[in-house]
Amino acid sequence: MANDTAAIRPARAETPHTSSVEATVKEYYGQVLASTADLKTTACCTDAAPPAHIAAALARVHEEVKDRYYGCGSPIPPALEGATVLDLGCGSGRDAYVLSQLVGPTGKVIGIDMTDGQLEVARRHLDWHATEFGYANVDFRQGYIEDLATAGIADGSVDLVVSNCVLNLSPDKPRVFTEVFRVLKPGGELYVSDVFADRRLPAALLEDPVLVGECLAGALYTEDFRRILDRAGCPDARTVSSAPLALGDPAIERKIGFAAFTSRTVRAFKLPLEDRCEDYGQVAVYHGTLAEHPHAFDLDNHHRFHTGKPMLVCGNTADMLSATRYARHFTVTGDKSTHHGLFPCVPSEQDGAARSESGSGCC
Ligand SMILES: C[S@@+](CC[C@H](N)C(=O)[O-])C[C@H]1O[C@@H](n2cnc3c(N)ncnc32)[C@H](O)[C@@H]1O
Repeated sequence: MANDTAAIRPARAETPHTSSVEATVKEYYGQVLASTADLKTTACCTDAAPPAHIAAALARVHEEVKDRYYGCGSPIPPALEGATVLDLGCGSGRDAYVLSQLVGPTGKVIGIDMTDGQLEVARRHLDWHATEFGYANVDFRQGYIEDLATAGIADGSVDLVVSNCVLNLSPDKPRVFTEVFRVLKPGGELYVSDVFADRRLPAALLEDPVLVGECLAGALYTEDFRRILDRAGCPDARTVSSAPLALGDPAIERKIGFAAFTSRTVRAFKLPLEDRCEDYGQVAVYHGTLAEHPHAFDLDNHHRFHTGKPMLVCGNTADMLSATRYARHFTVTGDKSTHHGLFPCVPSEQDGAARSESGSGCC
């Protein structure tokens, strides 16, 4: 099936820009960097402490894998048992080995990366982790995130696509998102951490090897990200968390310090959503059954569902909670037969907006 799909899809587009960025990235992650400590800025690294269950899973990941970690967030949502997960730009495999434990023996994790040096580290420790976990459910594949068909990922075959500080490095981001929504099952989730910018950066900086490698030159302008996702079929992506990035390095600050960068975690679902949040009078109640979230579940940075507390939600939020793998953790009442107008929303770009603690949600 994957090969049939590959046959009808155009080959991955090669332009001077894409091949130059690809070469720069391969060299940076394959040769220039030997460990996390070699990074010049904090863009490609996470400083926030992970939640306890992820810290426990990390403690069982091989040290060499962790030494080559270049992620910028924690793209690991809950409710993973038995899921098939695809990690785009898996690098040395840190997140893949954490996910391996969270999906368990009935789940599966596929990591894709184009850089041999990174994959060598990831693959070298496959047997070590299989012994440590008591099962083997991880598969690392050499490939491009713009062309998942060639990497053997079939249409509608994946429950969750994750990615940690990789999308910014792609020279063809629209194609990546088209591929993501092709491989996701209906109701599947995209959950990514990456670097975003508050503007489109000048062309002269887009191929600067250090700025590319440090995840800055290709950082997605937030509005372009919204447009690309919309064209790929998702008009309502949700920001889960967002924090400003300090560049730190003086030379880099001089080159690119006019722009503001943020490290964000974003989720999006493969669902037939509307482009605005509409009010159908639907109500969602969280059961408190996600193991690590007994008291409340944050769908995004302005939807906190307290256990047992009914919350009025828009039609899109209702679908995210009732037509995805989160469905068994929620009761969503009402349907879309009666429309009450536009739902009162907090625009998704108002990061840091107060969470809705009232009975009324916002989208
Ligand atoms: C900043 S590192 C992050 C690695 C890993 N996610 C982590 O958290 O450690 C970026 C990784 O993405 C890979 N990569 C970048 N662009 C890619 C592409 N177009 N296709 C496949 N892999 C890519 C690089 O080879 C590198 O391993």
